[in-house]
Amino acid sequence: RRENKRRAEKVEAAEPRNKLPSPASLLPTDPALYSGPFPFYGRPSELGCFSLDAQRQYHGDAQALRYYSPPPTNDQGPHFDLRDGYPDRYQPRDEEVQEGLDHLLRWLLDHRGKLEGGPGWLAGAIVTWRGHLTKLLTTPYEQQEGWQLAASRFQGTLYLSEVETPAARAQRLARPPLLRELMYMGYKFEQYMCADKPGSFPDPSGEVNTNVAFCSVLRSRLGNHRLLFSGEVDCTDPRAPSTQPPACYVELKTSKEMHRPGHWRSFYRHKLLKWWAQSFLLGVPNVVAGFRNPEGFVCSLKTFPTMEMFEYVRNDRDGWNPSVCMNFCAAFLSFAQNTVVQDDPRLVHLFSWEPGSPVTVSKHRDAPYAFLPTWYVEAVTQ
Ligand code: A3P
Ligand code: MG
Ligand code: MG
Repeated sequence: RRENKRRAEKVEAAEPRNKLPSPASLLPTDPALYSGPFPFYGRPSELGCFSLDAQRQYHGDAQALRYYSPPPTNDQGPHFDLRDGYPDRYQPRDEEVQEGLDHLLRWLLDHRGKLEGGPGWLAGAIVTWRGHLTKLLTTPYEQQEGWQLAASRFQGTLYLSEVETPAARAQRLARPPLLRELMYMGYKFEQYMCADKPGSFPDPSGEVNTNVAFCSVLRSRLGNHRLLFSGEVDCTDPRAPSTQPPACYVELKTSKEMHRPGHWRSFYRHKLLKWWAQSFLLGVPNVVAGFRNPEGFVCSLKTFPTMEMFEYVRNDRDGWNPSVCMNFCAAFLSFAQNTVVQDDPRLVHLFSWEPGSPVTVSKHRDAPYAFLPTWYVEAVTQ
């Protein structure tokens, strides 16, 4: 960690033009600073959706949406072999392609004229991926992985797009074979639990292609920050009490089978925080977990209602607190809104964070940090 900090300081020293005056350019992340009452967070409402196909091509419809189809509960329980089909029936997405906000911007370009609240609403909003907000929510408790978020203001709107850190890139390129297989297994679980049509059944004989994705586009509000964001959704439950998205959506997760109370404690402290942050932001009411044994078989399932997850750590001194997560996120959004003043799609403020340090900012123009594509900027500038 100290090494990272030293490296960051060296980079800043080498680029004095990029450094902004301190301490105004620092945001602390200590949980103790954010333990106020839970801030206002509006119920997310779905504005639309899009799909990415097996070739990662955009479609402005729900063709990639799958249907929750759990195994019957009357027999002995599931016996899903998550390693089946690896690696011969696996088409992994090319992670070298950094898509930024492109797919979401494509959706926005097609719908910006029809947004409720008119163009004025979008001008005061923050546009980003749900996954980026998830990272902000968990920041006060994160002790392993840092992040970088690029920010540009354009026609009033603040756009936030994640940049892969050098450390994350190095880790991805050196990903051990076992971790690659574990990633596959997460997607394989989805295939065992989802059908292509409502009322039909899962078909685990086909390929697992991680280019395919269904994304919901939603609006909400955190404190006084209007949000327009998109998130990938695993499936919809045709039998959910509410058929209205996002209340019908289901998040699927895999995790290691646990046998000791200590395992469960650690699961509640670390994994459940990430599951909660991801699903709470989008308004997904339930996360269905498949627990895999050492041989890679899922033999038990458990549903975790998103709104009950905090109960597992409420009385735990080393647990997490939803208020801290949301207050920090709101503070970061205010910090970003106040820092990115100039309206210019080619200007980027890069927010960087490493565990144990505050969030820092540096300023950049054009490549490699500018992320609003010319096709978007030109179409909107007309
Ligand atoms: P599990 O998390 O169930 O193991 P998501 O749960 O967000 O829908 O993601 C589906 C799967 O993608 C994950 O399944 C995991 O296999 C893989 N995945 C998602 N985010 C990842 C990350 N940051 N690193 C490694 N794998 C990831
Ligand atoms: Mg998913
Ligand atoms: Mg999932």
